[in-house]
Amino acid sequence: MKTTAIIGGSGLTQIESINIIEQKTYQTPYGSPSSACTIGEFNGQKIIFLARHGDPHTIAPHKINYRANLWALKQAGAEQIIAVAAVGGITPEMYPARIAIPEQIIDYSYGRKHTFFAEDSEAVHHIDFTNPYDPDLRQQIIQNAENLQLNIQADGVYGCTQGPRLETSAEITRMQRDGCDLVGMTGMPEAALARELEIPYACIAVIANWAAGKSAGEITMPEIIKNLEQGMADTKQLLQQFFLTTPSLQDPTDD
Ligand code: HPA
Repeated sequence: MKTTAIIGGSGLTQIESINIIEQKTYQTPYGSPSSACTIGEFNGQKIIFLARHGDPHTIAPHKINYRANLWALKQAGAEQIIAVAAVGGITPEMYPARIAIPEQIIDYSYGRKHTFFAEDSEAVHHIDFTNPYDPDLRQQIIQNAENLQLNIQADGVYGCTQGPRLETSAEITRMQRDGCDLVGMTGMPEAALARELEIPYACIAVIANWAAGKSAGEITMPEIIKNLEQGMADTKQLLQQFFLTTPSLQDPTDD
């Protein structure tokens, strides 16, 4: 049974059904993570929770210390990571309040500390990133969503923008031409850093709004909050189901 870490995004700063054992604050060679790690237990499994934007939610996407967050999770014993992230929907099937499990990423962010292999003295290391999300972990999440008959989109390309501003409609049109279905601000370098640390990583993307230019009006905070509430309720149910069924899905020799 693998120790799972959850990185919670906007709208998910805690999971009530986890029995909390302790809060652990890690220091890393890269500085401080966004928050303490909550170490807990659910259905006999160790779960680690980290609030990506801090708790309370104060750290903007471009200010997050992604390296410290991933390093802290590794120190806490994470063997797989489920990242929960709010996104905008670009293509028609990615409508607000729905959940998607993306399978690809295009990175438009810049200026973020995006690798652990940053020191000149280290051998240059090129990780394979053909499939940025772990295929097995994605399938387990999708299977659980199907068992719950949750209305999810089991694919999609996540485009990661720099933020914190939302996009222009022309930027979204360009991203759609590039092949993006979803737009968010935190998917990178998080996914790549997890791969550098060899921790399987997958994302539950909660669609908070139509991306810029995809609905008649402007994007409003009340709209985002309302859709996130619905999407996060489904996400919590999905995570709970994941932890209830994961042991039987896994190879018992794989400890
Ligand atoms: N764009 C980028 N990030 C987001 C959006 C969006 O429209 N909605 C939620 N996160």
